[in-house]
Formats: sequence, C-alpha cells, structure tokens
Amino acid sequence: MARIAVFGAGYVGLVTGACFAELGHIVCVRDVVDEKIEKLNAGQMPIYEPGLEDLLVRNRARIRFTLDAAEAVDGADFLFVCVGTPSTYSGDADLSAVWTVLAELPVDTRVVLVMKSTVPVGTGERVRVALEARGLDDVAYVSNPEFLAEGTAVRDVMHPDRVVVGAFRPEDADRVAALYAPLETTIVRTDVASAEMVKLASNAFLTTRISFINEIANVCELVGADVVDVARGIGLDHRLGPHFLRAGVGWGGSCFGKDVSALKQLAGNSGYHFQLLSAVIEVNDLQKRRVVGKLEKRLGKLRDKRIALLGLAFKPGTDDLRDAPSLVLASRLLAEGAEVRAWDPVADARDLLHGVAFCETVLEAVEGADGAVIVTEWPELSGLASPEVREAMRYPLIVDGRNLLDPAQARAAGFVYEGIGRPSPPSGAPAPAPDRSVELAG
Ligand code: UDX
Repeated sequence: MARIAVFGAGYVGLVTGACFAELGHIVCVRDVVDEKIEKLNAGQMPIYEPGLEDLLVRNRARIRFTLDAAEAVDGADFLFVCVGTPSTYSGDADLSAVWTVLAELPVDTRVVLVMKSTVPVGTGERVRVALEARGLDDVAYVSNPEFLAEGTAVRDVMHPDRVVVGAFRPEDADRVAALYAPLETTIVRTDVASAEMVKLASNAFLTTRISFINEIANVCELVGADVVDVARGIGLDHRLGPHFLRAGVGWGGSCFGKDVSALKQLAGNSGYHFQLLSAVIEVNDLQKRRVVGKLEKRLGKLRDKRIALLGLAFKPGTDDLRDAPSLVLASRLLAEGAEVRAWDPVADARDLLHGVAFCETVLEAVEGADGAVIVTEWPELSGLASPEVREAMRYPLIVDGRNLLDPAQARAAGFVYEGIGRPSPPSGAPAPAPDRSVELAG
C-alpha cells in the first residue's frame, strides 16, 4: 500500500486517484478550485464520467480531497501531477500549472514526482533542473503519460493497453512500475524524453488517422464510394487495424487540438517544420464546416431556415464541450442567419452559445425544422429516422455527421439523408414521399 498525492482534480486526476484507491492505496487529491473540492467533499461529481462516482463512493475510506498542497504531500510516497496544460496563443503548451506545483512543494518533500499531464518533450529535464535549484534533492522524477479517453476513462485506467514509464534512474521507474503490477499490462520502460514523445505522437497519430479517413470520405462523395465500407475494408488489414477510421464532422475534445499543436510547435521550435501535422489540423478545421455545405445543397441559403443540432458534446458519453465541432457548426449556422435549436442529453452549452435555443428533447429540437444534424452519435439518436420526427419536421432533411443511421432505412422512412462520405442523390432530386408502411409498422 502506497500513499499517493494527486495534484489536479480534472478527468485525469480524479480517475487516476479513484483507480489507485480501488487498488488499495491511500490517496489525497488536491485542486486549487474551491468549488470543486467542496463538491467532492460533499460527495458530488464535478464532471460527468461513467463509473467514476461508483468508484469514489466505494473507496470513500481511502480517498480524500483538499485545497492544501502541503497537506496532500505530507507523508506521500508519490505525487502524481495531473494539472491542465492548455495551449498558449503560440500553440505551445502552457506549463504554468506544473511550475506552480513545484513552487508549492515544501523543501523537505520526499516523493517520486510522476508527471501524468501531457507536456512537451524536454519538460522532465527542465523540472529536474528546477527541483535541484530549489534544493528538493529527495524528489525523484518519472514521466508516466496518461492515455485515458473521456467516457471510458475508468476502464482505460484499470485495463490499459500499455503503461509508459520514463525515468532518469531505474530505481524510480521500478517504484512507479510496481504501482501498476496488479493491472497485468505491458510496461514500456524508457528514458524521460521518449516517454513524453510517446504521448504526443500517439495523439498526433490518432488525429492523423481521423483526418485521413475524413479526406477519403470527401473524395468518396465525389466519386460515388461509401466511406463506411471503405473504412471496414481498410481496417481488416492487420497492419492497419479498424480503430479511429470513423469519418465525421471532425475531431474535438480537450486533448487532441492542444496536443497536436503542441507537437507541431515543439518540432518548429526545435527547427523542424512538421508539414503532415499542419495538414491534419487544417483538414479538421475544414471538416467541421462541411455540414453547412451539405445543408445548403438541399436547402439553398440558410437564412431563416430552422436547423436542429443533435448532440453538442465532443463525443458521446461525456458532457465535455471543449473544442467540440458543435460549437464551430452552431456559430457558422448563426452567422449564415439560420435559426439554431440544439439538444444534448448531458452537455450544457448555454454559456458558450448565445442565440441558440436549447431543447429538452429531440422532438422539441426538430419541431418545424428544415434540417436536423447529428453532430454527436449519442445512442438516443439511433432511432432518429422515425415517423414522429418525420411528422415534426418542416422539411425532412437529416445530415448525419457521424454516419450513425442506415441511409437506406432513413430514406425509406421518408427522409432526405446526407451522410459523410456516402453516396447521395443529386441535389435536385425531390424528397421521396413518406413511406406510410413504415409509419404503420412503427
Ligand atoms: C483522446 C485520446 O483517445 C486519449 O488517448 C488521450 O489521452 C486524450 O485524447 P478523448 O479526447 O477523450 O481521448 O476522445 P476520443 O475518443 O479519442 O475522441 C476524440 C475525438 O475524435 C472525438 O471528437 C471523436 O468524435 C473523434 N473521432 C474519434 C472521430 O471523429 N473518428 C474516430 O474514428 C474516432
């Protein structure tokens, strides 16, 4: 049993803390935001993450929350740094929260400082120098990047594909690796710089795959191929694999954008122009806007047209709106003069999107609409091509930004259907008449 301090009560910090408590360790999570700590101490969740609340309740006896840095590290064996590293205006990572953690450590601190936050390559070396300069000789440093995805974070931490441990001294790596021993996973032991690079390169590669399949989708639309079948055909090649080949309205979230630009910037600062990543980012920026063209293809000018945006979170299973394609899309539609109505089962975008009408139900959002856009593939939307929705809409256009629906079924149910990278009838074709037999069957 170890004593573990976790700095930062965001997705990474809370899930890491809860999982280490589950593994039998004594955990103290520290954050600087009063409200967050108050909520956690009152047994409330500051974020929506499936399974996290259960885990925290079950391990209540082994995990506590504080605002006090000294209290958190007092007697700790490990200090996991899980603070945010957002982008600065230049695209570099903002490490100010990391430096604040170091500045707060009492001089007699004896811990292994484990960096989970995503940081530029070279940060470990800089931290080591800073620790020496502060006389914190009993603080060891290990890079241990986190690969959890929101919505599946607890599972990702408890059943990781791999754990990466980069250290300056083998004995420090041994101590961190031992914490993961019960998880029966592959431990990749390496130097600090390589561990830091694994994280940045992993996210860059994932975004490259998505931007690649999105470009294939865009070409599919021009040549009459179906990207869903194409992706399946690609993914069955064992050298390529099936993951991250779902074409759509683009990638978002709190990590991808900032980490890809951090890597591009890191390369640039080091004298290398990372051309591929520039394209990956640009493709994604354009992809978020393509839905507007699809709506215009069927509806003409969007001024005064009523558009329902279905799903606002950057992906299902989370209420996170950071860098969500829905935000770009809603703003573009408003700029075109459209009336935008939005629905999401958990994400609350009221403070972010002004001029959008927020609806409690899907039916309310599509009422009188000229087009409905699936922006996030929430399971609730899989039955969207229903007679009720068909009746409620003024014009039965569905733009399926995540290829969630079966195009043939949607068209048979009387909808004009536009997916991403899927064959569609030319724009002049009238909307097919509603298939009453489907209504009767439903
Ligand atoms: C990501 C990484 O997966 C994770 O390893 C890292 O630690 C943090 O960043 P996350 O942002 O939670 O995790 O979400 P993820 O499931 O990776 O999805 C990111 C975005 O890519 C979403 O907007 C999603 O809709 C999009 N996506 C994903 C696609 O458009 N197509 C795909 O095939 C997969």
